[in-house]
Amino acid sequence: MQLQHLKQTARPAAFYSDTYDWFRRKRWAHMEKYQYLEPLYDGDPVQGAVLWRKWEKISGPTNMLKKQQGIIQNYCDEMAALSAPRGTIVDLGCGTAALRNTAPLIESYKTIKRYNAVDLNAAYAGSCKKDIESLFPGINGLAVCHDFMTPSMPLSHRDDIAVLFMGGTIGNFEARPETPDAIDLMARQITHFAQNFPRGTIAFIGLEATQDRQLLYQDYIHPAHQEFEIAMMHGIKREVLFDQPGFDPDAWRYAMAWFPKSYQFCHIAQALEDQSFYMFDEKIEIRTGDNFVIDNSFKFPVEAMQEAVQKAGKEYLKAFSDEDGRMVIHAIRL
Ligand SMILES: C[S@@+](CC[C@H](N)C(=O)[O-])C[C@H]1O[C@@H](n2cnc3c(N)ncnc32)[C@H](O)[C@@H]1O
Repeated sequence: MQLQHLKQTARPAAFYSDTYDWFRRKRWAHMEKYQYLEPLYDGDPVQGAVLWRKWEKISGPTNMLKKQQGIIQNYCDEMAALSAPRGTIVDLGCGTAALRNTAPLIESYKTIKRYNAVDLNAAYAGSCKKDIESLFPGINGLAVCHDFMTPSMPLSHRDDIAVLFMGGTIGNFEARPETPDAIDLMARQITHFAQNFPRGTIAFIGLEATQDRQLLYQDYIHPAHQEFEIAMMHGIKREVLFDQPGFDPDAWRYAMAWFPKSYQFCHIAQALEDQSFYMFDEKIEIRTGDNFVIDNSFKFPVEAMQEAVQKAGKEYLKAFSDEDGRMVIHAIRL
């Protein structure tokens, strides 16, 4: 409890203002970066990072992360050959997947000397660094706790890089439900992360391509995934609204929406009770049934991604896909 108390003396400003904007509907979704919070004490209900790992482990064989792993296993030699020789791998939003996603590519390149694990969750970046260094004793790892969409990423090396951006993370961005601007917004995502790398760097981007509503619902309705998404309300309670009894993190349920014309899948928090609380001295009133999109997961077919890459002024090289076209790893030259 001591840690919790310390935490409550300092509210993280960005989390506070993003939450305020979200509840005031000035910010459309993209609370994703606050979802992977670690518990701070025994019995802490904030379990986002733990629940993500649980979902990764127990999700079924059609899950996009499993499909992505299969693509890497099948095509790692070809992927490496596209960009060889490379001395550095930068793993954007590495999560806990370095052994699954990154290790096979390191084996295929045979020339990797440096590994940079980038994640806003410092524990994830640290554990990926450790995993790769233990498996490949000749490789120097670096854990980088940085928002990959902002410039000046403190990397160990600026040249000779292959970028991995896996797990559909590039498809988590802010947009109104049913946005008409999905392709332009994806182009902006590409422009933003690319600013950290020299022109000509090759990036591999894992993104779900399926447009099959039933398949998506079936996957995301998994209890472990629902639990992961809705756990963010506990993160808000612990970090942001700890002094507001009118906010109840348990009075929310997970819901979903799919907007195929926008390639947009929405993960939603729906209020189960009326709630009212104060932020910036303003009363926020939530009504039973109100929906707030926690995050968007955009799913782009290959042609839409090609258009976004072109709009960003980059070169689309190749699509590596699983046998059902569910997941695709896009190779692009930045
Ligand atoms: C969907 S998981 C993907 C994990 C892994 N790459 C995979 O393929 O399984 C997204 C990861 O990106 C991290 N992340 C999300 N937004 C980020 C940001 N803006 N900057 C850095 N890391 C971010 C999260 O903490 C999380 O570990």
